[in-house]
Amino acid sequence: MGHQPAPTIIATPNNNVLTTGNGNPVDDNQNSLTAGEFGPVLIQDFHLIDKIGHFDRERIPERVVHAKGGGAHGYFEVTADLSHLTCAKFLQKPGIKTPLFARFSTVGGEKGSSDTARDPRGFALKFYTEEGNWDMVGNNTPVFFIRDPLKFPDFIHTQKRNPQTNLKDADAFWDFLSLSPESLHQVTILFSNRGVPYSFRHMDGFSSHTFKLVNSEGVAHLVKWHFKTDQGIKNHSNEEALHLNGTNPDFSVEDLFTSIDKGNYPSWTVSLQVMKEEDAANYRWNVFDVTKIWPHADYPLQEIGKMVLNRNPINYFAEVEQSAFSPSHIVPGIDVSNDKMLQGRLFSYTDTHLHRLGPNYLQLPINQAYRTKVNNYQRDGASCFSENYRGFPNYEPQSQDPLGPQQQINDLRAKMSRVRLEGQTGRYPFRKSDDDFVQPGNLYRLLKGKEQDDLIKNIVAHMKNVKNQEIVKRQIALFNKADPEWGPRVEKGLEAEKKKEKKE
Ligand code: HEM
Repeated sequence: MGHQPAPTIIATPNNNVLTTGNGNPVDDNQNSLTAGEFGPVLIQDFHLIDKIGHFDRERIPERVVHAKGGGAHGYFEVTADLSHLTCAKFLQKPGIKTPLFARFSTVGGEKGSSDTARDPRGFALKFYTEEGNWDMVGNNTPVFFIRDPLKFPDFIHTQKRNPQTNLKDADAFWDFLSLSPESLHQVTILFSNRGVPYSFRHMDGFSSHTFKLVNSEGVAHLVKWHFKTDQGIKNHSNEEALHLNGTNPDFSVEDLFTSIDKGNYPSWTVSLQVMKEEDAANYRWNVFDVTKIWPHADYPLQEIGKMVLNRNPINYFAEVEQSAFSPSHIVPGIDVSNDKMLQGRLFSYTDTHLHRLGPNYLQLPINQAYRTKVNNYQRDGASCFSENYRGFPNYEPQSQDPLGPQQQINDLRAKMSRVRLEGQTGRYPFRKSDDDFVQPGNLYRLLKGKEQDDLIKNIVAHMKNVKNQEIVKRQIALFNKADPEWGPRVEKGLEAEKKKEKKE
Protein backbone atom coordinates (compact mmCIF):
# COMPACT_ATOMS: atom_id res chain seq x y z
CA MET A 1 0.00 0.00 0.00
CA GLY A 2 1.53 3.33 -1.09
CA HIS A 3 5.21 3.39 -1.82
CA GLN A 4 7.68 3.65 1.02
CA PRO A 5 10.22 6.46 1.54
CA ALA A 6 13.12 5.92 -0.88
CA PRO A 7 16.31 4.63 0.74
CA THR A 8 19.12 7.17 0.49
CA ILE A 9 21.85 4.60 -0.05
CA ILE A 10 21.29 1.96 -2.68
CA ALA A 11 22.57 -1.36 -1.37
CA THR A 12 24.86 -3.24 -3.74
CA PRO A 13 24.87 -6.73 -2.23
CA ASN A 14 27.04 -8.28 -4.98
CA ASN A 15 29.78 -5.75 -4.60
CA ASN A 16 31.67 -6.70 -1.46
CA VAL A 17 34.58 -4.33 -2.00
CA LEU A 18 35.28 -2.37 1.21
CA THR A 19 35.57 1.32 0.35
CA THR A 20 36.10 4.67 2.03
CA GLY A 21 33.20 7.10 2.16
CA ASN A 22 34.23 8.52 -1.21
CA GLY A 23 34.22 5.05 -2.79
CA ASN A 24 37.96 4.38 -2.88
CA PRO A 25 38.77 0.65 -2.41
CA VAL A 26 40.45 -0.04 0.95
CA ASP A 27 43.57 -2.20 0.83
CA ASP A 28 43.91 -2.95 4.55
CA ASN A 29 41.32 -2.53 7.32
CA GLN A 30 43.52 -3.92 10.14
CA ASN A 31 46.70 -1.81 10.03
CA SER A 32 47.02 1.99 10.00
CA LEU A 33 49.47 3.55 7.59
CA THR A 34 52.73 4.32 9.39
CA ALA A 35 56.12 5.83 8.51
CA GLY A 36 58.19 2.67 8.64
CA GLU A 37 57.26 -0.41 10.68
CA PHE A 38 57.63 1.35 14.04
CA GLY A 39 57.00 4.98 13.00
CA PRO A 40 54.04 7.34 13.72
CA VAL A 41 50.76 7.21 11.83
CA LEU A 42 50.56 9.24 8.62
CA ILE A 43 47.94 11.93 8.08
CA GLN A 44 47.62 10.75 4.49
CA ASP A 45 45.79 7.64 5.75
CA PHE A 46 42.38 8.92 4.63
CA HIS A 47 40.77 5.58 5.38
CA LEU A 48 41.73 5.94 9.06
CA ILE A 49 40.65 9.60 9.27
CA ASP A 50 37.41 8.95 7.38
CA LYS A 51 36.55 5.95 9.56
CA ILE A 52 37.39 7.49 12.94
CA GLY A 53 36.03 10.93 12.03
CA HIS A 54 32.68 9.39 11.12
CA PHE A 55 32.67 7.28 14.26
CA ASP A 56 33.41 10.36 16.39
CA ARG A 57 30.17 11.86 15.09
CA GLU A 58 27.91 8.78 15.35
CA ARG A 59 25.82 10.12 18.21
CA ILE A 60 23.25 12.86 17.74
CA PRO A 61 21.59 14.56 20.72
CA GLU A 62 19.01 12.23 22.23
CA ARG A 63 15.47 13.58 22.60
CA VAL A 64 15.37 15.88 25.65
CA VAL A 65 12.28 13.93 26.74
CA HIS A 66 10.99 10.58 25.43
CA ALA A 67 14.58 9.51 24.64
CA LYS A 68 13.97 5.76 25.01
CA GLY A 69 11.55 4.12 22.62
CA GLY A 70 10.69 1.73 19.85
CA GLY A 71 8.80 2.12 16.59
CA ALA A 72 7.07 0.29 13.77
CA HIS A 73 5.35 0.89 10.45
CA GLY A 74 1.73 0.12 9.73
CA TYR A 75 -1.47 1.63 8.45
CA PHE A 76 -4.66 3.36 9.53
CA GLU A 77 -7.98 2.33 7.97
CA VAL A 78 -11.10 4.47 8.19
CA THR A 79 -14.24 2.55 9.22
CA ALA A 80 -16.81 5.39 9.33
CA ASP A 81 -17.87 8.22 7.04
CA LEU A 82 -16.27 11.35 8.46
CA SER A 83 -16.97 13.75 5.60
CA HIS A 84 -19.48 15.72 7.74
CA LEU A 85 -16.69 16.41 10.26
CA THR A 86 -13.58 16.89 8.18
CA CYS A 87 -12.38 17.58 4.67
CA ALA A 88 -9.13 15.67 5.32
CA LYS A 89 -8.91 13.45 2.24
CA PHE A 90 -7.57 10.46 4.18
CA LEU A 91 -10.64 10.51 6.47
CA GLN A 92 -13.35 10.84 3.81
CA LYS A 93 -14.86 7.35 3.63
CA PRO A 94 -14.61 3.82 5.05
CA GLY A 95 -11.91 1.68 3.50
CA ILE A 96 -9.29 4.40 2.92
CA LYS A 97 -5.93 3.16 4.17
CA THR A 98 -3.09 5.50 5.08
CA PRO A 99 0.47 4.31 5.79
CA LEU A 100 1.84 5.42 9.16
CA PHE A 101 4.83 5.15 11.44
CA ALA A 102 4.42 4.83 15.22
CA ARG A 103 6.94 5.51 17.97
CA PHE A 104 6.28 4.61 21.61
CA SER A 105 8.48 5.79 24.44
CA THR A 106 9.01 6.42 28.12
CA VAL A 107 9.39 10.10 29.04
CA GLY A 108 11.90 10.95 31.74
CA GLY A 109 14.76 8.49 31.32
CA GLU A 110 17.76 8.58 29.03
CA LYS A 111 18.10 6.63 25.77
CA GLY A 112 19.36 3.54 27.65
CA SER A 113 16.90 3.72 30.55
CA SER A 114 14.43 1.03 31.53
CA ASP A 115 11.20 0.37 29.65
CA THR A 116 9.42 -0.57 32.88
CA ALA A 117 9.80 2.80 34.61
CA ARG A 118 6.69 4.26 36.27
CA ASP A 119 6.27 7.00 33.70
CA PRO A 120 3.75 8.00 31.04
CA ARG A 121 4.33 6.40 27.64
CA GLY A 122 4.59 8.43 24.44
CA PHE A 123 2.22 7.44 21.63
CA ALA A 124 3.44 9.27 18.52
CA LEU A 125 2.00 8.62 15.06
CA LYS A 126 2.97 9.95 11.65
CA PHE A 127 0.24 9.55 9.02
CA TYR A 128 1.70 9.78 5.49
CA THR A 129 -1.40 11.27 3.82
CA GLU A 130 -1.69 12.34 0.19
CA GLU A 131 -1.94 15.96 1.41
CA GLY A 132 1.17 15.87 3.60
CA ASN A 133 2.08 14.29 6.90
CA TRP A 134 -0.15 14.55 9.96
CA ASP A 135 1.47 13.78 13.31
CA MET A 136 -0.64 12.75 16.30
CA VAL A 137 1.82 13.17 19.18
CA GLY A 138 -0.01 11.82 22.20
CA ASN A 139 0.53 9.78 25.36
CA ASN A 140 -1.01 6.67 26.92
CA THR A 141 -2.86 8.94 29.35
CA PRO A 142 -5.83 11.19 28.50
CA VAL A 143 -4.48 14.08 30.63
CA PHE A 144 -1.15 15.69 31.54
CA PHE A 145 0.52 17.02 34.71
CA ILE A 146 0.45 20.70 33.81
CA ARG A 147 -1.54 22.93 31.47
CA ASP A 148 0.71 25.89 30.68
CA PRO A 149 3.81 25.46 28.46
CA LEU A 150 5.77 27.89 30.64
CA LYS A 151 5.85 25.19 33.34
CA PHE A 152 7.14 22.38 31.11
CA PRO A 153 10.94 22.87 31.46
CA ASP A 154 10.61 23.11 35.28
CA PHE A 155 8.37 20.08 35.43
CA ILE A 156 10.76 18.01 33.31
CA HIS A 157 13.77 19.10 35.39
CA THR A 158 12.08 17.53 38.42
CA GLN A 159 11.74 14.21 36.57
CA LYS A 160 15.41 14.22 35.52
CA ARG A 161 18.60 14.12 37.57
CA ASN A 162 19.64 16.40 40.43
CA PRO A 163 22.22 18.92 39.14
CA GLN A 164 24.65 18.13 41.97
CA THR A 165 24.28 14.41 42.65
CA ASN A 166 23.18 13.35 39.15
CA LEU A 167 20.66 11.12 40.92
CA LYS A 168 16.89 10.95 40.49
CA ASP A 169 15.42 13.22 43.15
CA ALA A 170 12.16 12.25 44.92
CA ASP A 171 12.11 15.59 46.78
CA ALA A 172 12.18 17.61 43.55
CA PHE A 173 9.56 15.28 41.99
CA TRP A 174 7.00 15.70 44.82
CA ASP A 175 7.95 19.31 45.61
CA PHE A 176 6.90 20.45 42.15
CA LEU A 177 3.80 18.23 42.01
CA SER A 178 2.59 19.24 45.48
CA LEU A 179 2.94 22.90 44.45
CA SER A 180 1.06 22.25 41.19
CA PRO A 181 -2.38 20.93 42.23
CA GLU A 182 -3.48 20.62 38.61
CA SER A 183 -1.11 17.63 38.36
CA LEU A 184 -3.18 15.42 40.71
CA HIS A 185 -5.29 13.81 37.98
CA GLN A 186 -2.21 12.61 36.05
CA VAL A 187 -0.47 11.66 39.32
CA THR A 188 -3.44 9.38 40.10
CA ILE A 189 -3.14 7.66 36.72
CA LEU A 190 0.66 7.42 37.02
CA PHE A 191 0.53 5.68 40.41
CA SER A 192 -2.40 3.45 39.51
CA ASN A 193 -1.54 0.09 37.93
CA ARG A 194 -1.72 1.76 34.50
CA GLY A 195 1.47 3.63 35.43
CA VAL A 196 3.62 0.72 34.20
CA PRO A 197 2.05 -0.79 31.05
CA TYR A 198 3.10 -4.39 30.36
CA SER A 199 4.40 -3.27 26.95
CA PHE A 200 3.67 -0.77 24.20
CA ARG A 201 1.17 -3.22 22.67
CA HIS A 202 -0.95 -3.35 25.81
CA MET A 203 -1.73 0.33 26.33
CA ASP A 204 -4.18 2.85 24.90
CA GLY A 205 -3.20 6.11 23.22
CA PHE A 206 -4.80 9.56 23.52
CA SER A 207 -4.40 12.92 21.81
CA SER A 208 -4.99 14.26 25.36
CA HIS A 209 -5.42 17.81 24.00
CA THR A 210 -8.54 19.02 22.28
CA PHE A 211 -8.02 19.33 18.52
CA LYS A 212 -10.32 20.46 15.72
CA LEU A 213 -11.72 18.76 12.67
CA VAL A 214 -12.89 21.15 9.95
CA ASN A 215 -15.29 20.17 7.16
CA SER A 216 -15.51 21.43 3.58
CA GLU A 217 -17.91 24.24 4.66
CA GLY A 218 -15.28 25.48 7.12
CA VAL A 219 -17.33 24.29 10.14
CA ALA A 220 -15.10 23.14 12.99
CA HIS A 221 -15.82 20.55 15.70
CA LEU A 222 -13.70 20.00 18.80
CA VAL A 223 -12.38 16.45 19.10
CA LYS A 224 -10.26 14.22 21.27
CA TRP A 225 -8.60 11.15 19.71
CA HIS A 226 -8.63 7.75 21.46
CA PHE A 227 -6.68 4.62 20.41
CA LYS A 228 -7.90 1.56 22.33
CA THR A 229 -5.55 -1.41 22.34
CA ASP A 230 -7.06 -4.56 20.79
CA GLN A 231 -4.52 -6.60 22.79
CA GLY A 232 -6.24 -5.57 26.03
CA ILE A 233 -4.81 -3.45 28.83
CA LYS A 234 -2.11 -5.29 30.76
CA ASN A 235 0.23 -3.83 33.37
CA HIS A 236 3.29 -4.77 35.42
CA SER A 237 3.08 -4.72 39.20
CA ASN A 238 5.68 -2.57 40.97
CA GLU A 239 7.62 -5.72 41.88
CA GLU A 240 7.65 -7.10 38.31
CA ALA A 241 8.69 -3.69 36.99
CA LEU A 242 11.59 -3.44 39.44
CA HIS A 243 12.71 -6.96 38.54
CA LEU A 244 12.63 -6.19 34.79
CA ASN A 245 14.55 -2.93 35.36
CA GLY A 246 17.44 -5.20 36.25
CA THR A 247 16.91 -8.25 34.06
CA ASN A 248 15.52 -6.82 30.81
CA PRO A 249 15.40 -3.01 30.67
CA ASP A 250 14.46 -3.25 26.95
CA PHE A 251 11.35 -5.34 27.59
CA SER A 252 8.86 -3.18 25.65
CA VAL A 253 11.12 -2.47 22.68
CA GLU A 254 11.80 -6.21 22.40
CA ASP A 255 8.12 -7.13 22.84
CA LEU A 256 7.05 -4.85 19.97
CA PHE A 257 9.79 -6.01 17.61
CA THR A 258 9.45 -9.75 18.25
CA SER A 259 5.68 -9.69 18.10
CA ILE A 260 5.69 -8.00 14.66
CA ASP A 261 8.54 -10.26 13.55
CA LYS A 262 6.39 -13.30 14.32
CA GLY A 263 3.47 -11.89 12.31
CA ASN A 264 1.50 -11.07 15.45
CA TYR A 265 0.51 -7.54 14.43
CA PRO A 266 -0.75 -5.27 17.21
CA SER A 267 -3.77 -3.10 16.46
CA TRP A 268 -5.78 -0.31 18.05
CA THR A 269 -9.43 0.68 17.57
CA VAL A 270 -9.61 4.39 16.91
CA SER A 271 -12.44 6.59 18.24
CA LEU A 272 -13.30 10.25 18.58
CA GLN A 273 -15.10 12.32 21.16
CA VAL A 274 -16.80 15.12 19.28
CA MET A 275 -18.10 18.43 20.67
CA LYS A 276 -19.78 21.31 18.84
CA GLU A 277 -17.52 24.36 19.01
CA GLU A 278 -20.28 26.53 20.49
CA ASP A 279 -20.85 24.05 23.36
CA ALA A 280 -17.34 24.55 24.74
CA ALA A 281 -18.06 27.87 26.45
CA ASN A 282 -20.84 26.41 28.63
CA TYR A 283 -19.35 22.99 29.33
CA ARG A 284 -18.60 22.05 32.95
CA TRP A 285 -14.91 21.65 32.11
CA ASN A 286 -12.56 23.97 30.30
CA VAL A 287 -11.95 22.02 27.10
CA PHE A 288 -8.56 23.69 26.64
CA ASP A 289 -7.29 22.40 30.00
CA VAL A 290 -5.25 19.26 29.29
CA THR A 291 -5.51 18.14 32.93
CA LYS A 292 -9.21 17.35 32.35
CA ILE A 293 -11.09 14.65 30.46
CA TRP A 294 -14.52 14.85 28.88
CA PRO A 295 -16.48 12.11 30.67
CA HIS A 296 -17.76 9.53 28.15
CA ALA A 297 -21.26 9.96 29.57
CA ASP A 298 -21.19 13.53 28.19
CA TYR A 299 -19.29 12.78 24.98
CA PRO A 300 -19.39 9.08 24.04
CA LEU A 301 -16.67 7.48 21.92
CA GLN A 302 -17.49 7.28 18.22
CA GLU A 303 -15.55 4.51 16.49
CA ILE A 304 -13.90 5.69 13.27
CA GLY A 305 -11.00 3.42 12.37
CA LYS A 306 -8.37 0.81 12.97
CA MET A 307 -4.60 1.17 13.31
CA VAL A 308 -2.37 -1.84 12.62
CA LEU A 309 1.41 -2.13 12.99
CA ASN A 310 2.80 -4.77 10.65
CA ARG A 311 6.38 -3.92 9.67
CA ASN A 312 9.51 -3.51 11.72
CA PRO A 313 12.07 -0.85 10.91
CA ILE A 314 15.07 -2.09 8.94
CA ASN A 315 17.40 0.37 10.60
CA TYR A 316 16.70 1.68 14.11
CA PHE A 317 18.76 4.85 13.77
CA ALA A 318 17.41 5.90 10.36
CA GLU A 319 13.78 5.20 11.13
CA VAL A 320 13.21 5.42 14.88
CA GLU A 321 15.96 7.70 16.18
CA GLN A 322 15.65 10.16 13.29
CA SER A 323 11.86 10.22 13.26
CA ALA A 324 10.61 13.69 14.11
CA PHE A 325 7.01 14.13 15.22
CA SER A 326 5.38 17.51 15.80
CA PRO A 327 1.86 18.59 16.74
CA SER A 328 2.40 21.43 14.24
CA HIS A 329 2.54 18.94 11.32
CA ILE A 330 -1.12 19.10 10.27
CA VAL A 331 -3.07 18.66 7.02
CA PRO A 332 -6.22 20.33 5.62
CA GLY A 333 -9.27 19.30 7.69
CA ILE A 334 -7.27 18.84 10.93
CA ASP A 335 -6.54 21.88 13.05
CA VAL A 336 -5.13 22.87 16.43
CA SER A 337 -7.09 24.41 19.28
CA ASN A 338 -6.50 27.25 21.76
CA ASP A 339 -5.13 24.84 24.40
CA LYS A 340 -2.12 26.83 25.75
CA MET A 341 0.00 23.71 26.27
CA LEU A 342 -0.67 22.60 22.72
CA GLN A 343 0.23 26.07 21.46
CA GLY A 344 3.59 25.84 23.29
CA ARG A 345 4.20 22.42 21.79
CA LEU A 346 3.59 23.78 18.27
CA PHE A 347 6.82 25.75 18.70
CA SER A 348 8.85 23.32 20.79
CA TYR A 349 8.97 20.23 18.58
CA THR A 350 10.12 21.91 15.36
CA ASP A 351 12.62 23.91 17.37
CA THR A 352 14.11 20.76 18.91
CA HIS A 353 14.17 18.98 15.53
CA LEU A 354 16.23 21.80 14.08
CA HIS A 355 18.65 21.29 16.97
CA ARG A 356 18.58 17.48 17.06
CA LEU A 357 18.49 16.70 13.33
CA GLY A 358 19.20 19.96 11.48
CA PRO A 359 17.34 22.23 9.09
CA ASN A 360 16.68 19.49 6.54
CA TYR A 361 15.10 17.00 8.96
CA LEU A 362 12.01 16.85 6.74
CA GLN A 363 14.15 15.49 3.89
CA LEU A 364 15.07 12.40 5.91
CA PRO A 365 13.21 9.42 4.41
CA ILE A 366 11.27 8.65 7.61
CA ASN A 367 10.02 12.25 7.84
CA GLN A 368 9.38 12.90 4.15
CA ALA A 369 5.84 13.75 3.08
CA TYR A 370 6.42 11.21 0.34
CA ARG A 371 2.80 10.82 -0.75
CA THR A 372 2.62 14.44 -1.88
CA LYS A 373 5.11 16.75 -3.56
CA VAL A 374 6.92 19.11 -1.21
CA ASN A 375 7.32 22.33 -3.18
CA ASN A 376 8.70 25.60 -1.83
CA TYR A 377 11.50 28.15 -1.88
CA GLN A 378 13.54 26.72 1.01
CA ARG A 379 17.12 25.96 -0.02
CA ASP A 380 20.48 24.71 1.24
CA GLY A 381 21.34 24.09 4.90
CA ALA A 382 23.33 21.30 6.55
CA SER A 383 22.70 17.84 5.06
CA CYS A 384 20.60 19.02 2.13
CA PHE A 385 20.49 15.84 0.08
CA SER A 386 17.60 16.53 -2.28
CA GLU A 387 18.14 18.02 -5.73
CA ASN A 388 17.72 21.36 -3.92
CA TYR A 389 15.22 22.41 -6.66
CA ARG A 390 18.03 22.58 -9.24
CA GLY A 391 18.22 25.99 -10.97
CA PHE A 392 14.62 27.04 -10.35
CA PRO A 393 14.03 30.46 -8.75
CA ASN A 394 14.72 30.51 -5.00
CA TYR A 395 12.52 33.53 -4.24
CA GLU A 396 8.87 34.50 -4.45
CA PRO A 397 7.08 36.46 -5.92
CA GLN A 398 8.86 35.60 -9.12
CA SER A 399 7.98 35.75 -12.83
CA GLN A 400 10.68 33.53 -14.32
CA ASP A 401 9.06 30.16 -13.73
CA PRO A 402 5.29 30.24 -14.32
CA LEU A 403 5.06 26.67 -12.97
CA GLY A 404 6.88 27.54 -9.71
CA PRO A 405 5.10 26.99 -6.38
CA GLN A 406 2.36 29.52 -5.66
CA GLN A 407 0.39 30.39 -2.54
CA GLN A 408 -3.16 29.04 -2.59
CA ILE A 409 -4.91 32.22 -1.51
CA ASN A 410 -8.42 31.09 -2.55
CA ASP A 411 -8.16 27.56 -1.22
CA LEU A 412 -10.25 27.48 1.96
CA ARG A 413 -8.88 24.05 2.83
CA ALA A 414 -5.34 25.44 3.02
CA LYS A 415 -6.31 28.03 5.68
CA MET A 416 -6.35 27.50 9.42
CA SER A 417 -9.87 27.70 10.86
CA ARG A 418 -10.90 31.10 12.19
CA VAL A 419 -11.15 31.79 15.90
CA ARG A 420 -13.20 34.67 17.35
CA LEU A 421 -11.30 36.41 20.15
CA GLU A 422 -11.82 39.32 22.50
CA GLY A 423 -10.07 40.72 25.57
CA GLN A 424 -6.65 42.05 26.39
CA THR A 425 -3.28 40.39 26.27
CA GLY A 426 -2.22 39.15 29.68
CA ARG A 427 -0.85 36.22 31.63
CA TYR A 428 -4.13 34.64 32.71
CA PRO A 429 -4.25 31.80 35.23
CA PHE A 430 -6.85 29.07 34.74
CA ARG A 431 -10.19 29.99 36.34
CA LYS A 432 -10.99 28.98 39.93
CA SER A 433 -14.01 27.07 38.62
CA ASP A 434 -11.61 24.71 36.83
CA ASP A 435 -11.64 22.46 39.89
CA ASP A 436 -8.53 20.27 40.04
CA PHE A 437 -9.81 17.77 42.60
CA VAL A 438 -13.18 16.49 41.29
CA GLN A 439 -11.80 14.36 38.43
CA PRO A 440 -8.90 12.80 40.43
CA GLY A 441 -11.33 12.13 43.31
CA ASN A 442 -13.76 10.43 40.92
CA LEU A 443 -10.92 8.32 39.54
CA TYR A 444 -9.77 7.39 43.08
CA ARG A 445 -13.29 6.19 43.93
CA LEU A 446 -13.62 4.37 40.60
CA LEU A 447 -10.61 2.22 41.53
CA LYS A 448 -11.98 -0.56 43.68
CA GLY A 449 -10.43 -3.00 46.17
CA LYS A 450 -6.97 -4.15 45.12
CA GLU A 451 -6.70 -1.48 42.44
CA GLN A 452 -7.11 1.22 45.08
CA ASP A 453 -4.77 -0.60 47.50
CA ASP A 454 -2.15 -0.76 44.71
CA LEU A 455 -2.51 2.98 44.09
CA ILE A 456 -1.69 3.68 47.75
CA LYS A 457 1.15 1.12 47.72
CA ASN A 458 2.69 2.58 44.56
CA ILE A 459 2.51 6.14 45.94
CA VAL A 460 4.07 5.06 49.25
CA ALA A 461 6.85 3.16 47.46
CA HIS A 462 7.87 6.40 45.73
CA MET A 463 7.10 8.99 48.44
CA LYS A 464 9.05 7.14 51.12
CA ASN A 465 12.21 8.48 49.45
CA VAL A 466 11.23 12.11 50.10
CA LYS A 467 13.44 13.66 52.80
CA ASN A 468 11.63 16.96 53.35
CA GLN A 469 8.47 16.22 55.37
CA GLU A 470 6.88 19.58 54.46
CA ILE A 471 6.65 18.31 50.89
CA VAL A 472 4.97 15.08 52.04
CA LYS A 473 2.43 17.04 54.11
CA ARG A 474 1.61 19.31 51.18
CA GLN A 475 1.02 16.36 48.82
CA ILE A 476 -1.12 14.55 51.38
CA ALA A 477 -3.25 17.68 51.70
CA LEU A 478 -3.88 17.48 47.94
CA PHE A 479 -4.93 13.81 48.18
CA ASN A 480 -7.34 14.82 50.97
CA LYS A 481 -8.92 17.50 48.83
CA ALA A 482 -9.78 14.82 46.27
CA ASP A 483 -11.03 12.30 48.85
CA PRO A 484 -10.82 12.60 52.67
CA GLU A 485 -9.85 8.95 53.02
CA TRP A 486 -6.95 9.09 50.53
CA GLY A 487 -4.44 11.19 52.51
CA PRO A 488 -4.65 9.18 55.78
CA ARG A 489 -4.10 5.94 53.84
CA VAL A 490 -0.88 7.30 52.33
CA GLU A 491 0.21 8.65 55.75
CA LYS A 492 -0.38 5.24 57.32
CA GLY A 493 1.59 3.53 54.56
CA LEU A 494 4.51 5.93 55.00
CA GLU A 495 4.56 5.36 58.79
CA ALA A 496 4.63 1.60 58.25
CA GLU A 497 7.59 2.04 55.89
CA LYS A 498 9.44 4.12 58.51
CA LYS A 499 8.90 1.41 61.14
CA LYS A 500 10.14 -1.24 58.69
CA GLU A 501 13.29 0.79 57.98
CA LYS A 502 14.01 1.24 61.71
CA LYS A 503 13.79 -2.52 62.26
CA GLU A 504 16.18 -3.16 59.35
C1 HEM B 1 8.66 14.55 22.77
C2 HEM B 1 8.27 19.11 24.34
C3 HEM B 1 3.95 18.10 26.29
C4 HEM B 1 4.00 13.86 23.96
C5 HEM B 1 8.95 15.85 23.08
C6 HEM B 1 10.17 16.52 22.74
C7 HEM B 1 10.06 17.80 23.18
C8 HEM B 1 8.78 17.95 23.80
C9 HEM B 1 11.09 18.91 23.03
C10 HEM B 1 11.34 15.89 22.00
C11 HEM B 1 11.00 15.80 20.54
C12 HEM B 1 12.11 15.29 19.68
O1 HEM B 1 13.29 15.39 20.05
O2 HEM B 1 11.80 14.81 18.56
C13 HEM B 1 7.05 19.24 24.98
C14 HEM B 1 6.54 20.46 25.54
C15 HEM B 1 5.34 20.18 26.13
C16 HEM B 1 5.09 18.76 25.88
C17 HEM B 1 7.26 21.82 25.50
C18 HEM B 1 4.39 21.07 26.85
C19 HEM B 1 4.35 22.38 26.69
C20 HEM B 1 3.55 16.88 25.80
C21 HEM B 1 2.24 16.31 25.94
C22 HEM B 1 2.27 15.12 25.27
C23 HEM B 1 3.59 14.94 24.72
C24 HEM B 1 1.08 16.96 26.68
C25 HEM B 1 1.16 14.13 25.06
C26 HEM B 1 -0.11 14.46 25.03
C27 HEM B 1 5.27 13.69 23.46
C28 HEM B 1 5.71 12.49 22.75
C29 HEM B 1 7.05 12.69 22.42
C30 HEM B 1 7.41 14.00 22.92
C31 HEM B 1 4.88 11.26 22.44
C32 HEM B 1 7.96 11.70 21.70
C33 HEM B 1 7.84 11.83 20.21
C34 HEM B 1 8.70 10.81 19.54
O3 HEM B 1 8.43 9.59 19.72
O4 HEM B 1 9.64 11.19 18.84
N1 HEM B 1 8.11 16.72 23.73
N2 HEM B 1 6.15 18.24 25.19
N3 HEM B 1 4.35 16.02 25.06
N4 HEM B 1 6.31 14.57 23.53
FE1 HEM B 1 6.22 16.38 24.36
